[in-house]
Amino acid sequence: MRDLSADLLEWYDRHARVMPWRVGPQDRKAGIKPDPYAVWLSEVMLQQTTVAAVRDYHRNFLSIWPTVQDLAAADDAAVMAAWAGLGYYARARNLLKCARTVVSDWGGAFPDTYEGLLTLPGVGPYTAAAVAAIAFDRAETVVDGNVERVMARMHDIHTPLPASKPQLTQLASDLTPNTRPGDYAQAVMDLGATICTPRSPACGICPWREPCKARAAGTAAMLPKKTPK
Ligand code: ADE
Repeated sequence: MRDLSADLLEWYDRHARVMPWRVGPQDRKAGIKPDPYAVWLSEVMLQQTTVAAVRDYHRNFLSIWPTVQDLAAADDAAVMAAWAGLGYYARARNLLKCARTVVSDWGGAFPDTYEGLLTLPGVGPYTAAAVAAIAFDRAETVVDGNVERVMARMHDIHTPLPASKPQLTQLASDLTPNTRPGDYAQAVMDLGATICTPRSPACGICPWREPCKARAAGTAAMLPKKTPK
């Protein structure tokens, strides 16, 4: 069988989206490592907010509080003010709590495993997996809406969300490679955001067009199905 993750990583090497907090595939190969604080901040901001909206907020936060120590020492009201517009203010409160815990309990260094990250305030399974994979290159599986869509289509899964969630997570986990897991996690998300889009997926230029079962069946655009709320 073809090595699916290798095909996707080759695509990512050419098409990775540029994001301020992201260390691109070329830089990563040159040994440059992401700043866990910047990655964590981006992943918290990206929950329920688009990449486009997060850009300016992320830059502003890093310019005011360049390190987790700076954020831990911040004035609560200043952080809430800088967060204004992003919504979900519980996230901003947890952000501060988390920064303070990293400084008080972890010597100012983010834990570098999924299990360690999961102990931090406001860090759930998604954020723990994303930071472990992206910042520390751990082979953790990151599953967001993009990844669910890609998996539902690759395997032509017609069971609707959310019932299909465990199955889609398992399929995503089965595909996660031990080589370059941080790049891989971001590659699947980029694929979902730019090629395997909800409405008109660009199957013709997809690096996974050949193994994709939904493309073969002509069902890609109707997946994933969702149980009406
Ligand atoms: N959405 C959330 N986190 C992301 C990331 N690191 N890369 C691409 N899309 C994302």
